[in-house]
Amino acid sequence: MTSRVTTISAVREAVAGARAAGKTVGLVPTMGALHEGHLSLMRRARTDNDLVVASIFVNPTQFGPAEDLQRYPRDLGRDLALAGGAGVDMVFAPEPGEMYPPGYATWVEVEGLGERLCGTARPRHFRGVTTVVAKLLDICRPDRAYFGLKDGQQFVIIRRMAQDLNLPVEIVGCPTIREPDGLAMSSRNVYLTIDERAQAPAIHRALRAAESAIAIGERDAPTLRRIVGEKVGEASLARAEYVEVVATEDLLPVARIQGECLIALAVWFGKTRLIDNIFVEG
Ligand code: PAF
Repeated sequence: MTSRVTTISAVREAVAGARAAGKTVGLVPTMGALHEGHLSLMRRARTDNDLVVASIFVNPTQFGPAEDLQRYPRDLGRDLALAGGAGVDMVFAPEPGEMYPPGYATWVEVEGLGERLCGTARPRHFRGVTTVVAKLLDICRPDRAYFGLKDGQQFVIIRRMAQDLNLPVEIVGCPTIREPDGLAMSSRNVYLTIDERAQAPAIHRALRAAESAIAIGERDAPTLRRIVGEKVGEASLARAEYVEVVATEDLLPVARIQGECLIALAVWFGKTRLIDNIFVEG
């Protein structure tokens, strides 16, 4: 049976009880509107830990003034049922005032990495993400915290934050879960019109084309960018915001694939912005 708590003190109390009993703790931070991607993180956390906590909090500080905070899909009853089915023991669903009381003034920022890729169009987005994740990690003090690799830049930034701040937590990246036609699962997919939804798998086809080129030896980053850009361009409703090949170390563009790199893109379909990526090794 999944319990639902709304206060920081209730989470701390439950985690302290589990710790006193020698249990391990896993945390799955989410903004709700749960889909298979989130549920895969929860199931993985269930396998790895004794106590599984999920947070459901539409974090206002990671939305820009012109972004979709108000219309972001919310259905707590449905989310609680899904989280319970995936093995979550406790859902932390705070009100905004619990996380950001009046006068709140402290921010956690990973310099540089948060300004690139999605950070160019969403200037304070990653500062909001790292701040809320740092708070959630401190509230819950988990052994492991789980994030989807679909948000590749977010994963790289959170991993760096944990490393730089010496946080005693393992940041676990879990594979992107896709629809049968390849579209990465995202809470924002519900915004797509029927025509946009039909064309959106072009993003995954583009990444697969890059993967195939790498498999036969291509390492040149501009060539890979061109391959991805051209494939996305085959979808008439797609408008690419960026296509980049970057090193995961600093998220700066590379000339060739060497070490761990990320091929990442953001694409608009009408009013909906979709992101996707692949991690590649050279
Ligand atoms: O990936 C998300 O859903 C959010 O960015 C996160 C990590 C829960 C922080 O609000």
